[in-house]
Amino acid sequence: MRILLLNLSPKNYGATQEILKTLQEAAPKEAETELVCLGDWDIRYCKGCKACYKIRACVVQDDMRALMDKVEAADVLVLAAPSYWADVPGVCKSFIDRCTPYSDTNPDPDGPRLRAGKRCYGIALRTGVRPMECEHILGTIEHWCGHMGITFSEGVFFCQIEGKSDITPHKPLLREKAGQWFKKTEK
Ligand SMILES: Cc1cc2nc3c(=O)[nH]c(=O)nc-3n(C[C@H](O)[C@H](O)[C@H](O)COP(=O)(O)O)c2cc1C
Repeated sequence: MRILLLNLSPKNYGATQEILKTLQEAAPKEAETELVCLGDWDIRYCKGCKACYKIRACVVQDDMRALMDKVEAADVLVLAAPSYWADVPGVCKSFIDRCTPYSDTNPDPDGPRLRAGKRCYGIALRTGVRPMECEHILGTIEHWCGHMGITFSEGVFFCQIEGKSDITPHKPLLREKAGQWFKKTEK
């Protein structure tokens, strides 16, 4: 099983990274895992040109294609995003927009599509107390899955998270989730 843990924020040393590291460490030994932070990649914004509708690829030359190779290789995805102004961070929105060539919103039926059978787990976190912002972020991840042909299996969220150290009390729950999420499934 290949597991891709995707930090949807620009920051590879914060609470979001800590959540994903905890899940990665709790993954079964036989699983191949990779933790990637969008902030470490050159992902430019979508220009809205719709050239991908015709040429089945994006005209923007950056790291997006290499990143999508990792998404394609994965059987299980874990996407985690902190709230930035009650929404996903800008780099995450750029990533989502740039997935258009691979999504079913691209009207070309022969356009590139991800291999079927992937499942995804979503994680949202914020500093504030109320869950609504996190639910909105999980909705965005679920919406992305819907258009990418990926099954959205579960979402979890954490409120009152300011930094990495606030994740410590949640580590038992994260390890429990890793046990459920990364269980071997019959193919
Ligand atoms: C630009 C920016 C905007 C933020 N906006 C919100 C917000 O609207 N609501 C909230 O609860 N937290 C907000 N936060 C706090 C982050 O969601 C929180 O600190 C989170 O733990 C950051 O995760 P990280 O350590 O992985 O960067 C914001 C943080 C930043 C940097």
